[in-house]
Amino acid sequence: MSKAIAKIGIVTVSDRASRGEYIDRGGPAIEAWLDSTLATEYDAVKCLVPDEQDQIEAALVDLVDTQACCLVVTTGGTGPAKRDITPEATLAVADKVMDGFGELMRSVSLKVVPTAILSRQTAVIRGKALIINLPGNPSAISDCLNAVFPAVPTCIRLLEGPELQIKQTTTASFTPAIK
Ligand code: MTE
Repeated sequence: MSKAIAKIGIVTVSDRASRGEYIDRGGPAIEAWLDSTLATEYDAVKCLVPDEQDQIEAALVDLVDTQACCLVVTTGGTGPAKRDITPEATLAVADKVMDGFGELMRSVSLKVVPTAILSRQTAVIRGKALIINLPGNPSAISDCLNAVFPAVPTCIRLLEGPELQIKQTTTASFTPAIK
């Protein structure tokens, strides 16, 4: 029996990129980070949505419930501005909130930029998938994913998803002894 290839959703949330006013740099940066980090073959399912709560929720629900992504990473819309609504959309589709992800990502990002405190980024479980919010600045992608990704394969395993292997040369995966 052939093993199912892991599917990972990548969601860029940006009014201007979705209107074609600038090129999306966040989505490709997430894919490049995953390519350089994952030893496991995976399929990237990419989408670009404006900062509209219903459209973000619909994209997340589609990626998890229909496309069966085990992991979804969003970029953008986590700040305090009027149109920033990604965390609200993420929480609206959540079964469980994973507070530690936001805490750790803000903590590491604060060592890089004092404005990291302005990101309300979070992570949640929906069904068998983990959804992680990242800020819109492409440089935040490696700051945040380097910090939280060691725990991601274990989280996906606990959700009965596919095995995600991390390349030895990059971020190490941490596997707890029991479970
Ligand atoms: N975190 C990291 N690592 N690097 C950054 O450049 N930018 C901050 C913050 N977190 C930033 C970061 C800023 S300036 C803002 S306003 C918030 O993320 C929210 O960004 P977003 O609305 O594009 O998601």
